[in-house]
Amino acid sequence: MPKKTIQSVDVAGKRVLIRVDFNVPMEGSSITDDRRIQAALPTIRSVIDRGGKAILMSHLGRPEGTGHEAAYTLKPVAERLSEILGKPVAFPGQEPGDGATAAAVEQMSDGDVLLMENLRFAKGEKKGDAEFAERLASMGDAYCNDAFGTCHRADASMVALPRAMQGKPRAVGFLVEREIKFLSETLANPAHPFTVVLGGAKVSDKLPAIEHLLPKADSILVGGAMAYTFLAALGKSVGDSRVEKDHIPGAQRIIDQAANAHTDLHLPQDHVACTQFNASGDIEVFEETIPSGFMGLDIGPKTQTAYANVIRGSKTIVWNGPMGVFEMPPYRIGTQQVAQAIAEATDAGAVSIVGGGDSAAAVEKFGLADRMSHVSTGGGASLEMLEGKAFEALSQIDNA
Ligand code: 3PG
Repeated sequence: MPKKTIQSVDVAGKRVLIRVDFNVPMEGSSITDDRRIQAALPTIRSVIDRGGKAILMSHLGRPEGTGHEAAYTLKPVAERLSEILGKPVAFPGQEPGDGATAAAVEQMSDGDVLLMENLRFAKGEKKGDAEFAERLASMGDAYCNDAFGTCHRADASMVALPRAMQGKPRAVGFLVEREIKFLSETLANPAHPFTVVLGGAKVSDKLPAIEHLLPKADSILVGGAMAYTFLAALGKSVGDSRVEKDHIPGAQRIIDQAANAHTDLHLPQDHVACTQFNASGDIEVFEETIPSGFMGLDIGPKTQTAYANVIRGSKTIVWNGPMGVFEMPPYRIGTQQVAQAIAEATDAGAVSIVGGGDSAAAVEKFGLADRMSHVSTGGGASLEMLEGKAFEALSQIDNA
């Protein structure tokens, strides 16, 4: 059932509580990547342009809920947002929902923007506390969830708050609407050939997503350190590469399921390996197996070509997790070739969905983000959506 969207809420003159995910990467007090702020702008602008009062709420990092901590203040985010919007963003109080916040909300005029201090400074946020949620609810006439990156959490602002606002409009914002459209609706009925590209360090993180997507996929391409657990399951020698021994049976189960479902499960045929986990040890390319003393850190040239060919022949592609340690230049090429092939397939009409976290950072780094159909702002949330999980936070939103 589609969800009510902010577009259909009459926000004029209303106080709209908008849960955003401004959990952005920081170095000291500098924001190093503001994509999550940019991604929330259409919703914020829609509310203020139609005469609503936008009251923004977010967490930043993982403070313990013991009150204000300077290291986790959202002040730099309020400043950046104000620059981007070209208008003041009120940033009152020491804790979300305190007296100073409530007073500042009272002072707002139509079209104003306010950002509360870090929700996780309040002990009720992580606990999903109903009393804390009631306090926040008293400050709003409508609720909007545009915090896709946090949709897999049951924090008070995600679940108890919309529950407390039953009877008032509760909608998703444009970002959450778009994330659901791609990560859930498109993948429920993908155009074929449908290719799933999975990488990253830990096979344990990705097994549920592979199991969920496998019955629909035509091809699954595996890279990153997680590939070595699969190769170990096939009895191949992988030298000193990272293998999650406890998950070898899980990898074996996937290999069997793929064979039964006639899904092509592709594993690396060659490897860029090094004697150390850095760029300064001896680096060599090995076919099939990796000798002891070396660890695989990227897919090799033959695998890059094979994976790129499968991707270019696909109509739907979902990608989560890099093919190697792309942060280090000698191990970047596998991830870059995969990103390039996805961009070319998208140019040719395929739908491409890049899961958040490292793969989103990779396409950004390679200057290819704009050529993807969708780059998710969620890390854990996008992976859980690929696993087919239902989110409690979204069940609290009104149906369209
Ligand atoms: C994220 O960055 O994945 C979200 O903001 C959720 O943050 P959390 O993992 O601290 O709940």
